[in-house]
Amino acid sequence: MPARLIDGKSIAESFRSDIARRAEEFKARTGVTPLLTAVLTGDDPASAVYVKNKHLACGKAGFGTDVIRLPATTSESELLDVVARLNADPHVHGILVQLPVPRQINAQKVLDAVTPLKDVDCFHPENVGLLAQGRPRFLPCTPAGVQRLLIESGTETAGSHVVVLGRSDIVGKPLAMMLMQKGPGANATVTVCHSQTRNLVDIVRSADIVVAAIGVPRFVTREMVKPGAVVIDVGINRVDGKLVGDVDFEPVSEVASAITPVPGGVGPMTITLLLENTLTAARLQAEAS
Ligand code: GUN
Repeated sequence: MPARLIDGKSIAESFRSDIARRAEEFKARTGVTPLLTAVLTGDDPASAVYVKNKHLACGKAGFGTDVIRLPATTSESELLDVVARLNADPHVHGILVQLPVPRQINAQKVLDAVTPLKDVDCFHPENVGLLAQGRPRFLPCTPAGVQRLLIESGTETAGSHVVVLGRSDIVGKPLAMMLMQKGPGANATVTVCHSQTRNLVDIVRSADIVVAAIGVPRFVTREMVKPGAVVIDVGINRVDGKLVGDVDFEPVSEVASAITPVPGGVGPMTITLLLENTLTAARLQAEAS
């Protein structure tokens, strides 16, 4: 029997209407409109599309939204100045520095400069530390989107073996931390695989849940997936003008019990969690002032 499709688009839509409702309540109570400012440096075409989608989603949810576009020649100190200005602006609740930044800029230095209460990506070491300790201020957007898809699709994580392919700071590492915590959508036994992993196929084949986040098109093949496993595809790769994930979708669908498509799986959830974090940031700043 082919796998059930985990429809990230429709799950994200109902989550977004709930966020929009809570944002309305927050506005009515405080007089404050949550505002996200994205900083787009350079002319990476994929980044331009992501930022546009984030901007549109904010507008639709009734949030304030702003995009600062900087040229590819921007220096590190110029970008740090922009971040410092946004940190100090009481109208700005969330700051998103779109990655990648041009080569002359040290991304870590810039991300560390975002004040933790406005760090809606959950990239700042203070927020990563809180997440690791199981008392998150913000949930990182893509990992939290994956977790939410697992919950909404009725996938049992407690006691399950989750294999995460990829150890990035944006997805693999924080997702592993989240899924091993105590709590709903977690309590899993987590293995993280990467480019140096031995016996990768055997490990993936032992997974109840596979999360692919390595950025290699169609890396996960049918032979690597245990029959009945749930497969979450975080990959967004452009191959011959077409978007494909890290999972070889059709053949894997024949053995998995449930699977996310690309596009329409994790992507819409990432933006949704960004909205959630922006609302959280606005609330935290209203409480602090
Ligand atoms: N570039 C690719 N993914 C992301 C993300 O989640 N946040 C930011 N800021 N940049 C990205």
